[in-house]
Amino acid sequence: MINHHLSNIISQTKLLEELADQYGTPTYVYSKSRLEHNISELLKAISMSFANYQIYYAVKANSNINIIKILKNKFNDLGCDCSSPGELFAAEKANVSMSDCVYTGNYESIEDLKTALNAGAEINLDDLNSFNRLKTIGVPEYVSFRLNPGKGHGQFKGIITGGKDSKFGIPKEDIVKAYKAAKSFGVKRFGLQCHAGSSTLDADTFSDITEQILKSAREVEDSLEQKLEKISIGSGFGIPYRDEEKPLNLQKLFKNINLVFKGYYGDDNKNWPTLCIEPGRILVADTGFILTRVTGTKSSYKQFIGLDAGMETLMRPALYGAFHRVQKIGENDGETLKYDITGRICENTDRISKDHNMPTINEEELCAIMDSGAYGYSMSHNFNTRPRPAEVLIDEEKLILIRKRESIEDIFRGCNV
Ligand code: LLP
Repeated sequence: MINHHLSNIISQTKLLEELADQYGTPTYVYSKSRLEHNISELLKAISMSFANYQIYYAVKANSNINIIKILKNKFNDLGCDCSSPGELFAAEKANVSMSDCVYTGNYESIEDLKTALNAGAEINLDDLNSFNRLKTIGVPEYVSFRLNPGKGHGQFKGIITGGKDSKFGIPKEDIVKAYKAAKSFGVKRFGLQCHAGSSTLDADTFSDITEQILKSAREVEDSLEQKLEKISIGSGFGIPYRDEEKPLNLQKLFKNINLVFKGYYGDDNKNWPTLCIEPGRILVADTGFILTRVTGTKSSYKQFIGLDAGMETLMRPALYGAFHRVQKIGENDGETLKYDITGRICENTDRISKDHNMPTINEEELCAIMDSGAYGYSMSHNFNTRPRPAEVLIDEEKLILIRKRESIEDIFRGCNV
């Protein structure tokens, strides 16, 4: 058995067989207590080092309304970072106040901006052109701009969002110009945001990125002759997907960020701009796994395990080469084999894992694909016309269906047939 916070759940063979019988497979399964634990730990760490802070949950990581509600119930001031009208909708349905939300888009349509503005969310603009589109509908009193600090970080090339190749944000050389223009058109109050990458486990990276952000913030403040009210360092906080990786020490991380703030804003943390973070992965990734059944096995040039969960269920391995541990449910005879774990999709990139050592497994047996709570369901899709899975919450011993499995009819609902 792998060493994981959810071992107490994935070792309960009877419970998982019942779950599979009742709700089918593949199903995303989440632990309520782990969700509560993650938000509490983050809150504790940030509040130890900052007097003024705000947590905007990045809805893109997992937009299930029930999941957002659990986070909100544990931290009543929770805000949401939303990047589409759909994510604003999810936040609102989870009872998160729209005035506690920030809309971070990119290449936003005027319609998108209108939805965010009318909802009453704060707007974090990706470019001066974004502001120019926004001002055709209205000029809010407060805006922030997204900085591209010229470099980024992240576990895979595809999730680095700062640097010369990034489509996001305003180059640090141009950032002052954007604020001056917005001020000249009537914006009164400002913040600054930067999200330079994702899935980073090196704590020093966050101090470094904060340093870059505050350097640009200082230039903006000097040229506007006005203080920025909020500084968002985005997110990027990683989780250990592998046995040998260590979790981030959040208390130490915020202590270090506090030191960077001290260097720019002095000793009294009550006079600092509000530190904002937009965590997605660290709150939800390790709270969920995919319960899936082996549908076929094959001895070819390689040994294959075929699951009913494929790249349409969890896209991260095919898209980035991301690694997820796969745990066989139930007894094993101690023998292990090296497998390629795949789904039923007609693409050779359809892999959940490559060269994965695991106990020998037979058709019809169950597996758990671990750490799928973030960017799992929210990136699932319908390729090969496969309906999306169900989502179930485990609350103590209770199983609660929090999203029903999509049906084939659901997929064709919009078609005129
Ligand atoms: N804020 C902004 C503006 C973002 O774009 C993102 C993620 C976040 C916050 C949350 O970042 P996190 O806490 O999760 O690191 N699909 C990829 C991850 C892409 C992240 C995109 N932006 C994956 O599966 O790893």
